[in-house]
Amino acid sequence: MSKVPVICVDGPSGAGKGTLSQRLAETLGWHLLDSGALYRIVGHACVLRDISWQDESRVVEVAETLDVRFVPSPAGVSVWLEGEDVTAQIRSQDGSRGASAVAVLAKVRVALLDRQRSMATLPGLVADGRDMGTVVFPNAVLKIFLTASAEARARRRQAQLLEKGESVSLPRLLDSINERDERDTNRSASPLVAAKDAVLIDSSTLTVDAVCDRVLELAADKGLIARSPN
Ligand code: DC
Repeated sequence: MSKVPVICVDGPSGAGKGTLSQRLAETLGWHLLDSGALYRIVGHACVLRDISWQDESRVVEVAETLDVRFVPSPAGVSVWLEGEDVTAQIRSQDGSRGASAVAVLAKVRVALLDRQRSMATLPGLVADGRDMGTVVFPNAVLKIFLTASAEARARRRQAQLLEKGESVSLPRLLDSINERDERDTNRSASPLVAAKDAVLIDSSTLTVDAVCDRVLELAADKGLIARSPN
């Protein structure tokens, strides 16, 4: 594992981790781990098997036996569970609720560790999540902690929802972001916290391109990639 370069991208919901990680993986030709999708799939698989999100031992069983595939497509990565495309279901509001419920279970987090670590294969891995730099890949050479103000994240979320034809007020989005931050930061199992050796980047006023360039520069500084000629 230690010979494979890993870039960790952690931070709160809506800071732009997903977009940044996808962009980095594409630019570098590296693998991408969307760890949030794993928690979403576990939550969804529980619904399919009629298992309560609170039933830790049965949720662990689900996490250990997941038959899941990530399939790259022009519209991003699609997620297949037991031969069925479940991308839309896991990205729904229910998908988020299930993920957040199973993610607080310490044994479920442990059950997903090997699967996440096994994705670190050559030429390299971009790992997107909450505990990539603190728990899953503590030896990663480059760890980014991406933040943005709650207001900036609420505005981005509102724009995303508007694209899907849903209109939600900014104060309501802000409330739900603050609530989620509180839950993620204060849970006992792998709370959301920046690794001591993480580089903090605040994306509130930065474009995706600017953040991506900054991370590539840091990767070059660390000797993970060749410095671009310009
Ligand atoms: O990044 P996301 O919104 O897809 O994450 C879904 C949920 O899973 C969210 O509640 C945070 C949780 N999560 C986690 O606890 N640890 C991770 N490494 C990734 C996501």
